[in-house]
Amino acid sequence: MKVVFLAPHYPPEMHQYTRGLAEVGAEVYGVGDQPVGALPASLKRHLADYLHVPRMMDEDDVIARVHAWLRGREVDKVLSNWEPLVICAARLRERFGLPGMTVDQVKGFRDKQLMKERVRAAGLRVPRSARIFTATEARQAAEEIGYPLVLKPIAGAGSADTYKVEDAADLERVLKLTRHVTEASVEEYIDGEEFTFDTVSIGGVPAFMNVAQYLPKPIVARSVEWISPVIITVRDIHQPKIAPGIELGKNVLKALQMGDGFTHMEWFLKPNGEAVFGEIGCRPPGAHLVDQMNYMCDIDLFREWARVACWGHFAAKVDYKYNAAIVFKRALGQGRITRIEGREDFMRKYGRFVVEDTLLPIGAHRRDWTQTLVSDGHILLRHADWDSAYELAFKAASDIKLYAQ
Ligand SMILES: Nc1ncnc2c1ncn2[C@@H]1O[C@H](COP(=O)(O)OP(=O)(O)OP(=O)(O)O)[C@@H](O)[C@H]1O
Ligand SMILES: [Mg+2]
Repeated sequence: MKVVFLAPHYPPEMHQYTRGLAEVGAEVYGVGDQPVGALPASLKRHLADYLHVPRMMDEDDVIARVHAWLRGREVDKVLSNWEPLVICAARLRERFGLPGMTVDQVKGFRDKQLMKERVRAAGLRVPRSARIFTATEARQAAEEIGYPLVLKPIAGAGSADTYKVEDAADLERVLKLTRHVTEASVEEYIDGEEFTFDTVSIGGVPAFMNVAQYLPKPIVARSVEWISPVIITVRDIHQPKIAPGIELGKNVLKALQMGDGFTHMEWFLKPNGEAVFGEIGCRPPGAHLVDQMNYMCDIDLFREWARVACWGHFAAKVDYKYNAAIVFKRALGQGRITRIEGREDFMRKYGRFVVEDTLLPIGAHRRDWTQTLVSDGHILLRHADWDSAYELAFKAASDIKLYAQ
């Protein structure tokens, strides 16, 4: 089994997927924009070969170089687990005549307007929306859709340039802020709680499922600095409350013709119990959510994904044991971390539930919280009981404080 894996070095969790591929018996051909000498030994030992390309995002160039590099060699799969590269992987598959999702199928997971049209066409509940290119089109779409609404880029990630718009005057403000965005989606604002629906699927049918709750919704977490965003995976995945979201998710996978691999969907639960589609990618979630799923079930989804992607088979026994909660911390102030309060006390009382503590050390420079949800480090904890996991996570959010002042 020879597998071309795009960007094995970035983002950092791709090291784990590369390891998984090697562990299930694949020969991994990595393609990345880091010189081979800059790759860590821990990654290099899982690679059979590596192609250094100058610009990872230049699809035509990457495709031409990979084609030349592989001349005379047979490969079985081309894979990518990073959102900006999923189309490139599909184009390479088509170029080499390899099995796997086509460019058209992958576009349904990449283009936010197209995905909504396809999901809506399958009779599923999607926010009313329109694709817009100009301010005039945005105003017109807003009239048709009504307020409040959300304006967001068609191929966005990390809630960048995503705004809730309250009324026509607010729209003018947001249009000024998003002038650099060339293609956007205007959509009905859905009130309610927000969850993920994540899977490792085989032929579009989940072999593994996860639901996690965002606390608060990302659009809020990404705009208010003092908030410590919390995400908790739901151990009791069969509870009636989230059943509409799981059913929606499974139907979305069918509607978009999912193949083999990870999916990451976001959905809203309205106060009336209705589940509404948000968005979906045919790749794993970032921000350590796969680590949370692993801690929830004591499994290794990096390896199980690889088994599914290579051999169409999921081997781990799935037993939902814990609710895994992650708390992202943001330091108060600017510059370097000067002190951390409350951590020792928290660890003394609840340390037995904590599985990871990656808070930046004193002296480290703050990360840009507007650019990365990972912020200034996280506490990851788990508890078999939802209410306890929830309470502990919010205690960590409020009682542990980082300062950069
Ligand atoms: N129609 C909507 N109604 C209510 N909230 C919305 C809507 N669309 C987006 N949001 C909010 O904005 C956030 C970001 O939107 P979306 O997920 O589409 O963008 P993104 O940039 O891909 O996000 P990320 O990469 O963080 O998942 C959502 O998680 C949600 O909180
Ligand atoms: Mg999103």
